[in-house]
Amino acid sequence: MKTLALRGKKVLAPVLGRYFPEFEIKSGRGCYLYGTDNKKYLDFSSGIAACSTGHAHPKVVAAAQKQTGKLIHICIGVANYAPYIELAESLAKIVPIIDAQFFFCQSGAEAVEAALKLAKYATKKPGIIALRGAFHGRTLGALSVTTSKMKYRDGYEPLLPEVYIAGPELDDIEKLCREKNIAAIIFEPIIGEGGYLVQSEELVKGLRRLCDQYGVLLIADEIQTGFGRTGKWFAVEHFGIKPDIICLAKGIASGFPLGGIAAAAELMAKWSPGSHGTTYGGNPVCCAASLATIEVIKKANLVSKAKQLGFYLIKKLHQLQQQFPAIKDVRGLGLMIGVDFQDSAMVKRIVNYCLAHGLVIIPTGAEGTVVRFIPPLIVTKEQINQALKIFTAALTHA
Ligand SMILES: Cc1ncc(COP(=O)(O)O)c(C=O)c1O
Repeated sequence: MKTLALRGKKVLAPVLGRYFPEFEIKSGRGCYLYGTDNKKYLDFSSGIAACSTGHAHPKVVAAAQKQTGKLIHICIGVANYAPYIELAESLAKIVPIIDAQFFFCQSGAEAVEAALKLAKYATKKPGIIALRGAFHGRTLGALSVTTSKMKYRDGYEPLLPEVYIAGPELDDIEKLCREKNIAAIIFEPIIGEGGYLVQSEELVKGLRRLCDQYGVLLIADEIQTGFGRTGKWFAVEHFGIKPDIICLAKGIASGFPLGGIAAAAELMAKWSPGSHGTTYGGNPVCCAASLATIEVIKKANLVSKAKQLGFYLIKKLHQLQQQFPAIKDVRGLGLMIGVDFQDSAMVKRIVNYCLAHGLVIIPTGAEGTVVRFIPPLIVTKEQINQALKIFTAALTHA
């Protein structure tokens, strides 16, 4: 066993799931990671869809370094500071919510907690509907709406009361809206940890219709799908609907720990001052990194690039499917693509082969039967071809 892995075994809680327990890196730059074995790895994991502008993008590094020299922390509860306000102003121009306001936190799960709390508080109703197979995070509230893997919940029940797991049939969801006191429906436009399943337009539009009909808030969890990854700034835009609350994290700050929620000012006005809060949420350095991330995404047209390269990658993967019947399905939007093998042992062999040959690519799905392609949005066609070459060799050897 290698040095860091061996030392970690002694001092780290074994609860952490690891895709590659022995993989050790020294640094990252652009789409590459550099191993302690002095090997260069092409990273198609992006730190689980977080490093949208790649590793250590010079603009993000410069913005974070400059901010670190000025102010690391104060807490928005203590004083206003420019990066927090500027980030909210900048996001207001890109989120698909009119007259949006923001609350910032540190992670995806915390963004989900904030969304659930806002929904309950503003509607004065207790019920939450979550879609079957969704992943929304590991904190107890977020876990209550998570069913992508039941092992996430085992040992932690009882969780939040009045959470109803339903769908994908709209009739079931409508029955709950009619019979229970529902504050909100939470959903992922593309089920992420549950296997990269793109929701149907019928379902997403149906959720919006039910919410309007029954006075329920619609929460879109865009933690994995947001910030250009799917070829639109936010994946809900593919479905032509506007949610009431959007959960943000991951790609928002190129790997800095930042999350947040967006909702219209009219809804946010119902959340009384002090009824939610945080010490570090919207930390100045993370906000500066996020502002730089948004600038990089805009200047380099990374959203439309994700769309074009996504088409290219999905086309190539469909061609591979013709050649390798072990591939049961290829699906996704933009640079969020899943290759379904319906065989977790095979997926393990494939990702391990890829790692040994210089490509970091990770599984997803309830049983780990799907390989996911989520490169940084700065990825080039040449790097995609390089990844496909290694992936094809893995398929031959799997
Ligand atoms: C859709 C979705 N929601 C919530 C989360 C939780 O985010 P975090 O791990 O930052 O708490 C994730 C993380 O994978 C996610 O994919």
